[in-house]
Amino acid sequence: MNPSHQPPLQHIAFIMDGNGRWAKARKLMRTEGHKEGVKRVFDIAQHAFDHWNIPYVTLYAFSTENWTRPRYEIDVIFRLLRTYLRQKKSILLRNKIRFQTIGDLSKLPRSAQEIVQEVHQETAAFSEHTLTVALNYGSREEILHAIRSLSPEECHQLTWESLAQHLYTHSIPDPDLIVRTSGEQRLSNFLLLQAAYSELYFTPTYWPDFKEASLDQAIEDYLHRTRRFGNIEPCSSND
Ligand code: IPE
Ligand code: IPE
Ligand code: MG
Repeated sequence: MNPSHQPPLQHIAFIMDGNGRWAKARKLMRTEGHKEGVKRVFDIAQHAFDHWNIPYVTLYAFSTENWTRPRYEIDVIFRLLRTYLRQKKSILLRNKIRFQTIGDLSKLPRSAQEIVQEVHQETAAFSEHTLTVALNYGSREEILHAIRSLSPEECHQLTWESLAQHLYTHSIPDPDLIVRTSGEQRLSNFLLLQAAYSELYFTPTYWPDFKEASLDQAIEDYLHRTRRFGNIEPCSSND
Protein backbone atom coordinates (compact mmCIF):
# COMPACT_ATOMS: atom_id res chain seq x y z
CA MET A 1 0.00 0.00 0.00
CA ASN A 2 1.46 3.29 -1.06
CA PRO A 3 -0.99 6.19 -1.29
CA SER A 4 -0.28 8.21 -4.44
CA HIS A 5 0.83 11.32 -2.53
CA GLN A 6 3.64 9.39 -0.94
CA PRO A 7 7.14 9.42 -2.48
CA PRO A 8 8.72 5.96 -2.53
CA LEU A 9 10.48 4.94 0.66
CA GLN A 10 14.08 4.85 -0.49
CA HIS A 11 15.99 5.15 2.75
CA ILE A 12 15.09 4.14 6.29
CA ALA A 13 17.42 4.89 9.20
CA PHE A 14 17.30 3.49 12.73
CA ILE A 15 18.50 4.94 16.02
CA MET A 16 18.86 1.61 17.80
CA ASP A 17 18.29 2.69 21.38
CA GLY A 18 17.26 0.97 24.61
CA ASN A 19 19.67 -1.97 24.84
CA GLY A 20 20.76 -0.99 28.36
CA ARG A 21 17.22 -0.54 29.63
CA TRP A 22 16.14 -3.82 28.03
CA ALA A 23 18.86 -5.56 30.05
CA LYS A 24 18.13 -3.62 33.23
CA ALA A 25 14.46 -4.62 33.07
CA ARG A 26 15.67 -8.23 33.15
CA LYS A 27 18.26 -7.61 35.89
CA LEU A 28 21.02 -8.33 33.39
CA MET A 29 24.19 -6.40 32.65
CA ARG A 30 23.85 -3.63 30.04
CA THR A 31 26.17 -5.56 27.74
CA GLU A 32 23.60 -8.38 27.56
CA GLY A 33 21.28 -5.83 25.99
CA HIS A 34 23.87 -5.06 23.31
CA LYS A 35 24.28 -8.80 22.64
CA GLU A 36 20.54 -9.17 22.18
CA GLY A 37 20.29 -5.96 20.17
CA VAL A 38 22.88 -7.08 17.64
CA LYS A 39 20.72 -10.14 16.87
CA ARG A 40 17.92 -7.88 15.59
CA VAL A 41 20.08 -5.98 13.13
CA PHE A 42 20.18 -8.35 10.22
CA ASP A 43 16.56 -9.48 10.38
CA ILE A 44 15.34 -5.90 10.44
CA ALA A 45 17.61 -4.83 7.58
CA GLN A 46 16.65 -7.89 5.53
CA HIS A 47 12.95 -7.26 6.12
CA ALA A 48 13.36 -3.65 4.96
CA PHE A 49 15.28 -4.75 1.84
CA ASP A 50 13.19 -7.77 0.86
CA HIS A 51 9.69 -7.25 2.14
CA TRP A 52 9.52 -3.48 1.73
CA ASN A 53 11.89 -3.14 -1.19
CA ILE A 54 13.80 -0.31 0.45
CA PRO A 55 17.24 0.05 -1.14
CA TYR A 56 19.00 1.95 1.67
CA VAL A 57 19.04 0.97 5.34
CA THR A 58 21.14 2.87 7.88
CA LEU A 59 21.80 1.96 11.51
CA TYR A 60 23.19 4.21 14.23
CA ALA A 61 25.46 1.88 16.20
CA PHE A 62 27.97 4.11 18.03
CA SER A 63 27.99 7.89 18.40
CA THR A 64 30.87 10.29 18.92
CA GLU A 65 29.41 10.84 22.40
CA ASN A 66 29.30 7.13 23.27
CA TRP A 67 33.05 7.20 24.08
CA THR A 68 32.06 8.67 27.45
CA ARG A 69 30.65 5.25 28.46
CA PRO A 70 32.58 2.80 30.68
CA ARG A 71 35.55 1.23 28.88
CA TYR A 72 34.20 -2.27 29.45
CA GLU A 73 30.92 -1.47 27.67
CA ILE A 74 32.76 0.13 24.72
CA ASP A 75 35.01 -2.93 24.42
CA VAL A 76 32.01 -5.26 24.34
CA ILE A 77 30.28 -3.16 21.66
CA PHE A 78 33.30 -3.31 19.33
CA ARG A 79 33.85 -7.01 20.06
CA LEU A 80 30.23 -7.63 19.06
CA LEU A 81 30.71 -5.59 15.90
CA ARG A 82 33.73 -7.71 14.93
CA THR A 83 31.99 -11.01 15.61
CA TYR A 84 28.87 -9.82 13.83
CA LEU A 85 30.67 -8.75 10.67
CA ARG A 86 32.74 -11.95 10.53
CA GLN A 87 29.56 -13.99 10.86
CA LYS A 88 27.51 -11.98 8.38
CA LYS A 89 30.09 -11.41 5.66
CA SER A 90 29.05 -14.47 3.65
CA ILE A 91 25.36 -13.63 3.79
CA LEU A 92 26.04 -10.02 2.79
CA LEU A 93 27.95 -11.37 -0.22
CA ARG A 94 25.28 -13.94 -1.03
CA ASN A 95 22.47 -11.41 -0.83
CA LYS A 96 24.51 -8.79 -2.72
CA ILE A 97 24.30 -6.18 0.01
CA ARG A 98 26.74 -3.29 -0.15
CA PHE A 99 28.10 -2.64 3.35
CA GLN A 100 29.53 0.74 4.25
CA THR A 101 30.04 2.93 7.29
CA ILE A 102 29.68 6.60 8.13
CA GLY A 103 31.77 8.22 10.86
CA ASP A 104 35.44 8.51 11.70
CA LEU A 105 36.77 4.95 11.75
CA SER A 106 40.29 5.98 12.79
CA LYS A 107 39.38 5.96 16.49
CA LEU A 108 37.98 2.42 16.42
CA PRO A 109 40.05 -0.50 17.71
CA ARG A 110 42.37 -1.70 14.91
CA SER A 111 40.72 -5.13 14.64
CA ALA A 112 37.30 -3.50 14.19
CA GLN A 113 38.68 -1.18 11.51
CA GLU A 114 40.15 -4.14 9.65
CA ILE A 115 36.99 -6.21 9.43
CA VAL A 116 34.90 -3.13 8.57
CA GLN A 117 37.26 -2.32 5.68
CA GLU A 118 37.37 -5.93 4.53
CA VAL A 119 33.58 -6.27 4.31
CA HIS A 120 33.27 -2.80 2.81
CA GLN A 121 35.76 -3.60 0.04
CA GLU A 122 34.32 -7.03 -0.75
CA THR A 123 30.77 -5.72 -1.09
CA ALA A 124 31.58 -2.39 -2.74
CA ALA A 125 30.44 -3.43 -6.23
CA PHE A 126 26.87 -4.25 -5.18
CA SER A 127 24.29 -1.60 -5.88
CA GLU A 128 20.80 -2.93 -5.20
CA HIS A 129 20.88 -2.84 -1.39
CA THR A 130 23.07 -0.65 0.81
CA LEU A 131 23.52 -1.26 4.52
CA THR A 132 25.19 1.70 6.20
CA VAL A 133 26.34 1.52 9.81
CA ALA A 134 27.14 4.72 11.70
CA LEU A 135 30.26 4.08 13.79
CA ASN A 136 31.87 6.84 15.80
CA TYR A 137 29.41 9.02 13.94
CA GLY A 138 28.18 12.45 14.99
CA SER A 139 26.62 15.06 12.74
CA ARG A 140 28.68 17.89 14.18
CA GLU A 141 31.93 16.02 13.58
CA GLU A 142 30.72 15.12 10.08
CA ILE A 143 30.04 18.77 9.25
CA LEU A 144 33.45 19.89 10.54
CA HIS A 145 35.12 17.07 8.61
CA ALA A 146 33.29 18.17 5.44
CA ILE A 147 34.17 21.84 5.84
CA ARG A 148 37.84 21.07 6.50
CA SER A 149 37.99 19.02 3.29
CA LEU A 150 36.69 21.85 1.07
CA SER A 151 39.09 23.57 -1.28
CA PRO A 152 39.17 27.42 -1.08
CA GLU A 153 37.28 27.55 -4.42
CA GLU A 154 34.60 25.17 -3.20
CA CYS A 155 34.30 27.16 0.02
CA HIS A 156 33.75 30.36 -1.90
CA GLN A 157 30.92 29.01 -4.05
CA LEU A 158 29.44 26.63 -1.54
CA THR A 159 25.97 25.25 -2.19
CA TRP A 160 24.07 22.64 -0.21
CA GLU A 161 24.65 20.15 -3.04
CA SER A 162 28.42 20.68 -3.03
CA LEU A 163 28.63 20.50 0.78
CA ALA A 164 26.55 17.29 0.72
CA GLN A 165 29.19 15.77 -1.57
CA HIS A 166 31.68 16.08 1.30
CA LEU A 167 29.46 14.49 3.97
CA TYR A 168 29.96 10.84 4.92
CA THR A 169 26.53 10.20 3.38
CA HIS A 170 27.47 11.49 -0.09
CA SER A 171 26.57 8.19 -1.78
CA ILE A 172 23.15 7.69 -0.18
CA PRO A 173 19.92 9.69 -0.38
CA ASP A 174 18.56 11.57 2.62
CA PRO A 175 16.52 9.34 4.92
CA ASP A 176 12.78 9.37 4.23
CA LEU A 177 12.05 7.85 7.61
CA ILE A 178 14.05 7.81 10.86
CA VAL A 179 12.90 5.30 13.47
CA ARG A 180 14.06 5.66 17.06
CA THR A 181 13.36 2.94 19.58
CA SER A 182 13.26 3.15 23.41
CA GLY A 183 10.86 6.08 23.84
CA GLU A 184 13.44 8.86 23.55
CA GLN A 185 12.32 11.58 21.17
CA ARG A 186 15.53 13.16 19.93
CA LEU A 187 18.11 12.70 17.20
CA SER A 188 21.20 12.56 19.43
CA ASN A 189 23.53 14.05 16.79
CA PHE A 190 22.35 11.68 14.02
CA LEU A 191 22.06 12.91 10.40
CA LEU A 192 21.00 16.39 11.49
CA LEU A 193 21.34 18.00 8.06
CA GLN A 194 20.15 14.97 6.12
CA ALA A 195 17.03 14.78 8.33
CA ALA A 196 15.80 18.21 7.20
CA TYR A 197 12.68 16.66 5.67
CA SER A 198 12.75 13.15 7.14
CA GLU A 199 9.68 11.76 8.78
CA LEU A 200 10.38 10.79 12.39
CA TYR A 201 8.88 7.77 14.12
CA PHE A 202 9.35 7.14 17.83
CA THR A 203 8.37 3.92 19.54
CA PRO A 204 8.66 2.97 23.22
CA THR A 205 9.87 -0.52 22.21
CA TYR A 206 13.47 -1.19 23.22
CA TRP A 207 15.71 -2.11 20.28
CA PRO A 208 16.15 -5.79 21.32
CA ASP A 209 12.34 -6.15 21.20
CA PHE A 210 11.99 -4.41 17.82
CA LYS A 211 10.85 -7.15 15.43
CA GLU A 212 9.72 -7.32 11.82
CA ALA A 213 6.12 -6.56 12.88
CA SER A 214 7.37 -3.41 14.67
CA LEU A 215 9.02 -2.33 11.43
CA ASP A 216 5.80 -3.01 9.52
CA GLN A 217 3.98 -0.74 11.96
CA ALA A 218 6.52 2.06 11.55
CA ILE A 219 6.30 1.88 7.75
CA GLU A 220 2.49 1.73 7.73
CA ASP A 221 2.55 4.88 9.86
CA TYR A 222 4.95 6.54 7.42
CA LEU A 223 2.78 5.63 4.46
CA HIS A 224 -0.12 7.57 5.96
CA ARG A 225 1.84 10.78 6.34
CA THR A 226 1.76 13.66 3.91
CA ARG A 227 5.10 15.08 2.89
CA ARG A 228 4.98 18.59 1.52
CA PHE A 229 8.62 19.75 1.48
CA GLY A 230 7.50 23.34 1.98
CA ASN A 231 4.86 23.20 -0.74
CA ILE A 232 1.13 23.43 -0.05
CA GLU A 233 0.37 20.25 -1.95
CA PRO A 234 1.74 16.82 -1.16
CA CYS A 235 4.80 16.21 -3.32
CA SER A 236 7.89 14.08 -3.58
CA SER A 237 11.35 15.44 -2.78
CA ASN A 238 12.17 15.22 -6.49
CA ASP A 239 9.27 17.44 -7.62
C1 IPE B 1 21.76 1.87 22.27
O1 IPE B 1 21.34 1.40 23.50
C2 IPE B 1 23.11 1.33 21.86
C3 IPE B 1 24.20 2.31 21.87
C4 IPE B 1 24.07 3.58 22.10
C5 IPE B 1 25.53 1.81 21.60
P1 IPE B 1 21.79 2.10 24.84
O2 IPE B 1 23.04 1.44 25.33
O3 IPE B 1 21.87 3.56 24.69
O4 IPE B 1 20.60 1.70 25.80
P2 IPE B 1 19.90 2.64 26.88
O5 IPE B 1 19.47 3.89 26.18
O6 IPE B 1 20.93 2.93 27.93
O7 IPE B 1 18.75 1.84 27.38
C1 IPE C 1 22.03 7.33 20.42
O1 IPE C 1 21.72 6.69 21.60
C2 IPE C 1 23.23 6.68 19.78
C3 IPE C 1 23.02 5.34 19.27
C4 IPE C 1 21.90 4.68 19.22
C5 IPE C 1 24.19 4.71 18.74
P1 IPE C 1 22.24 7.26 23.01
O2 IPE C 1 21.68 6.35 24.04
O3 IPE C 1 23.71 7.41 22.97
O4 IPE C 1 21.57 8.69 23.04
P2 IPE C 1 21.19 9.63 24.27
O5 IPE C 1 22.43 9.77 25.11
O6 IPE C 1 20.09 8.96 25.02
O7 IPE C 1 20.75 10.90 23.65
MG1 MG D 1 20.52 5.04 24.90
